[in-house]
Amino acid sequence: MLDTNPKPWTETTVVGKPLPKIDGRERLAGEAKYTLDQNLPDMLYAATFRCPHAHARVVKVDLSRAKEMPGVRAILSDADKEAGIPWFRTSRLFDPHCRYEGEEVAVVAAETQQQAWDAVRAIQVQYEKLPFVSSMEDALKPGAPPVQESGNSPRPNPYNRGDIAKGFAEADFVVEQTYRTSIELHTPIEVHGSVAHWDGDHLTVWDSTQGPFSIQAGLAGLLHIPLSKVRVIARYMGGGFGSKLDLGKYTVIAALLARKTGRPVKYCLSREEEFLCVGNRPAHMLRLKAGVKKDGTLTAFELHGNAEVGAYPAGDSAAYLVRELYTCPNVKIEEAPVMIHAGQSRAFRAPGFPQSAWALEQTMDALAEKIGMDPVEFRLKNVSMVCGVDSNKPYTSIGLPECLREGAKAFGWSEARARAKSDGPIVRGVGVASGMWGYLARPSSTAVVRYNADGSVNLNLGAADIGTGTRTIMAQVVAEELGVPMARIEVENADTGTTQFSDGAGGSKTTMIDSPAVRAAAIEVKSRLLDMAATQLKVPVADLKLANGEISGPGGSPKVAVAQLSGLQMQRVVVGVGTRAPHPADKAIRPFGTHFAEVEVNKRTGEVRVVRMLAAQDSGRVMNLMTYRNQVLGGMTQGIGFALTERRVLDSGTGKMVNDNFHDYKIPTAMDVPAQLEVLPIDPHDMEVNSTGTKGLGEPALVPAAAAIANAFYNATGVRATHAPITPASVIELLNQARKQG
Ligand code: MOS
Repeated sequence: MLDTNPKPWTETTVVGKPLPKIDGRERLAGEAKYTLDQNLPDMLYAATFRCPHAHARVVKVDLSRAKEMPGVRAILSDADKEAGIPWFRTSRLFDPHCRYEGEEVAVVAAETQQQAWDAVRAIQVQYEKLPFVSSMEDALKPGAPPVQESGNSPRPNPYNRGDIAKGFAEADFVVEQTYRTSIELHTPIEVHGSVAHWDGDHLTVWDSTQGPFSIQAGLAGLLHIPLSKVRVIARYMGGGFGSKLDLGKYTVIAALLARKTGRPVKYCLSREEEFLCVGNRPAHMLRLKAGVKKDGTLTAFELHGNAEVGAYPAGDSAAYLVRELYTCPNVKIEEAPVMIHAGQSRAFRAPGFPQSAWALEQTMDALAEKIGMDPVEFRLKNVSMVCGVDSNKPYTSIGLPECLREGAKAFGWSEARARAKSDGPIVRGVGVASGMWGYLARPSSTAVVRYNADGSVNLNLGAADIGTGTRTIMAQVVAEELGVPMARIEVENADTGTTQFSDGAGGSKTTMIDSPAVRAAAIEVKSRLLDMAATQLKVPVADLKLANGEISGPGGSPKVAVAQLSGLQMQRVVVGVGTRAPHPADKAIRPFGTHFAEVEVNKRTGEVRVVRMLAAQDSGRVMNLMTYRNQVLGGMTQGIGFALTERRVLDSGTGKMVNDNFHDYKIPTAMDVPAQLEVLPIDPHDMEVNSTGTKGLGEPALVPAAAAIANAFYNATGVRATHAPITPASVIELLNQARKQG
């Protein structure tokens, strides 16, 4: 059945509670089998020879020594036409034209991982080194070495609304600033990897992926085999942040080597390969000009943006928030990606949105200061209550005003702002920023609930649990609807061979799309059970109630334990199938959030310390308070990295990445994250979205975090830090400049 119009839960006993993950113990105990743990009999191990140059043409590949190395069973390179090496998106899999450090030149399968690595070291390659560009500024210069034949930057994509000249003419104040963000790496705890196994013409792949069905489709297409013969399994998955949404070359490599050798092949990347080859968040250069009237009315936004996307065409707009978050009649936007000779960008938690917030929310701060209005009040005045990108549709729900108001109250905004400290070597300030997230959602999920004769339940759905708690939340929905204890529910998911279909776990849409399908399946089971009870007890269905494993009539009698239903005993099992109904056609669905940050800046050392943060989020109904909190804490933590420490550094002399390790690429550790991270759920039950009342949380929890920190930095120092990350060296330089000018 579809999830159309079931009654809202009036009150819940399981959904919303802070329940631990149902698979938390096995994950912690090391019993959960991730792709890296998947070992098959006779399995070989793969390793890749990667181009060490930013830009080069492979002149000659000499495999003779490598072939003689112990344990080597297969080597594939561009020379192996007979192996049927496919194209991978826009280039050949082992294209002799290498456009970044880390491009695949040849791959080896050997008996052990160490033998595979050794054999790779025995491959000898001659290159013709070519000129390269390693920054978007250089790539845009006339005469810059071209990354692709089409040039380094396509024509900008314009967006216009209203009359931008009129908008600036009407403004009492105009501010203009160029913002810059850096390349961020995904750094999931589990590396990217696959184990591939052929059985005749059937291919089975264990893959560390967010989207098993996307991997299945990608492999079937590239290898020209029917979808029905490709099985992808992703039962446990150690994070992806967008870099594991679609097919990666390593998966194709594992499948090709397995086909060639007739043996299973495991290919899990090294940390260095993770840093170089499997994606990143593009850096942005954003020139944002904005106009405001004295009373706080916005009159104009003009944005010129470039995204540094690496060596292959990709896009990442940072305009969304500028267009949609606030009411502004006149908007002009021009954006274009810029290619450089470096690893390709890929979707990264709320693609484009933290960058958008970095520019917009600092600009909002500057405008508020110009007109002498409190930054929270200024935002409240301008929040758009309709969604412009969806032709001014109303939202199913918008909790952004509550995020601002309730968040400010809980953070103690006014008091904290009043005690900002600007004298002495260590100064202190607070900042605020808001954000939203936009969906690319396709409501396509199906779920199956099987109620067994002994009262245990199997839930089957396609969605991967990428560490967010999907399995737990879906089990809660079943437990809520059927009154079955959590411990009696088994969840099977993310296996294209045995589970239902779900779109990839990305776009923060899994809970929103899958939980109503799960609820619909459970409701179908429940109605079948009630029908059985009605026949057995001779009581009309409408008078029956299911609770605590019993079905009872009015006032509690007659009653029967579900497990004792003769219908169930005879049939042995009751199955319900649920599908997510379409989104409401006339409404837009968006989650929102506002973050508050307090920072200390040491003016002598340039260090910025986040003292405390608070995140107020509107993601619709809270499904599990514990996993909810974890998502938001993770969002703030990643935001601290964006604002203060994370940056891919390329050496300008060689174009090579100099910090492809966890020592030099700095993600926040426990030492960098304040103990005071507070989560304030705004908990509207959005019954227009779906039957579970919930929107999405993962990505929106990151969007405003870094901008709030940047605004706090300004409040503390009186100096605007426009470039992320705000490093100690950049702080010293900014303060010196300000001193000279002041
Ligand atoms: Mo997300 S960047 O859709 O995993």
